[in-house]
Amino acid sequence: MEYREDFRTFSVLVSENREVMSKCIEAINREFLKGQFHLEISQYEITVFLNMLDLEKLKGVVSALETKYSLPLNNELSQIVREIESIGSYGVKAGKRSYVHYNRERKVSGRKQKVLERGAYFYAQENDFSTVNNSLPTRFLDTVSVADSQEALKQMPDNCVDLVFTSPPYNFGLDYGEHRDGVDWNLYFEKLFAIFKECIRVTKYGGRIAVNVQPLYSDFIPAHHIISDFFMRNRMIWRNEILWEKNNYNAKYTAWGSWKSPSNPYLKYTWEFIEVFSKGDLKHPGESALSDITDTEFKEWVNAKWSIAPEKKMKEYNHPAMFPEKLAERVIKLFSFQEDIVLDPFNGVGTTTKVASRLNRHYVGFDVSKKYVDIAIQRLEGQS
Ligand SMILES: C[S@@+](CC[C@H](N)C(=O)[O-])C[C@H]1O[C@@H](n2cnc3c(N)ncnc32)[C@H](O)[C@@H]1O
Repeated sequence: MEYREDFRTFSVLVSENREVMSKCIEAINREFLKGQFHLEISQYEITVFLNMLDLEKLKGVVSALETKYSLPLNNELSQIVREIESIGSYGVKAGKRSYVHYNRERKVSGRKQKVLERGAYFYAQENDFSTVNNSLPTRFLDTVSVADSQEALKQMPDNCVDLVFTSPPYNFGLDYGEHRDGVDWNLYFEKLFAIFKECIRVTKYGGRIAVNVQPLYSDFIPAHHIISDFFMRNRMIWRNEILWEKNNYNAKYTAWGSWKSPSNPYLKYTWEFIEVFSKGDLKHPGESALSDITDTEFKEWVNAKWSIAPEKKMKEYNHPAMFPEKLAERVIKLFSFQEDIVLDPFNGVGTTTKVASRLNRHYVGFDVSKKYVDIAIQRLEGQS
């Protein structure tokens, strides 16, 4: 594919049926603005001039012409559509794909030098993390246990897990059984941070910690900011923030604050966050053969707003605050390789450990509640 003036261009060969093709091309060119998209036919080839295009419209026009002229399956027009569909880099403007200069306004000259001058993730630069990673003792490997994570994690060596993915209790006052939820916020963060400190210690150099969290808006506690601040003060690189859109517009509460008045309106939220941190290095080493994310998944998931419905089986599993398997699957495939070790220190009924195992990762899970751990083990054994 080349660039000519304001167009991206490519060609396909013309079959014997040149006369019919010429008619098709005339018909297509009538439908699009010449400066945005047009086709030229020579004796042997059709050249495509691509600047901006409503691809769905082109597909419609092509399909009508295929019917009208009874074109064979792999005809030139379908080849052109396929080739355009395979172009992954484009911007979108007013419903049209823009293939040329779409990122012009975003280009910053001397970008690398400017990053150096600004000092990217300055808060995490002066860390004393060891770069030497250790193996996880086999007694922890692929286990789910009843334990207070603050104690259990102390038994694990430094730098021994690749990814921590977890959702701590949010302190909303839910009924968890063993764990008392809804305590004084200072106590809550003190305990949470003692566990997260251990998580940082056991994470490998270049490993990641992803925390799913929902602020308690009605208490005006931005837990996602407070947690991110904690990790950054502990020299972790804040690498991503994913917005998990649950689309639960029928959320039960009906509070408006000051109804129809700016005096104190109450806003409503249908999403949670996943804050992702890296230890020491943004890059996580791994063999590309062990990466299992597909190109379609990668393209979709790097858009950091994920629309995923909340878990529907909470009643069945008797747990009040599970996240859905789809969420765990995305985090695990996007941030770890197969055979990596995934830890969840607040494992609940084991969504993380189940998905990690299904995706050929090793796992370690802890939860204070035996009834949840029993269910997590059943899920791993494929019983539920
Ligand atoms: C939000 S839930 C996690 C649910 C999990 N993501 C799932 O899908 O099943 C938090 C869990 O943390 C557990 N927990 C609370 N304090 C803990 C602690 N100190 N150590 C280990 N687990 C704890 C609770 O029992 C609860 O199951």
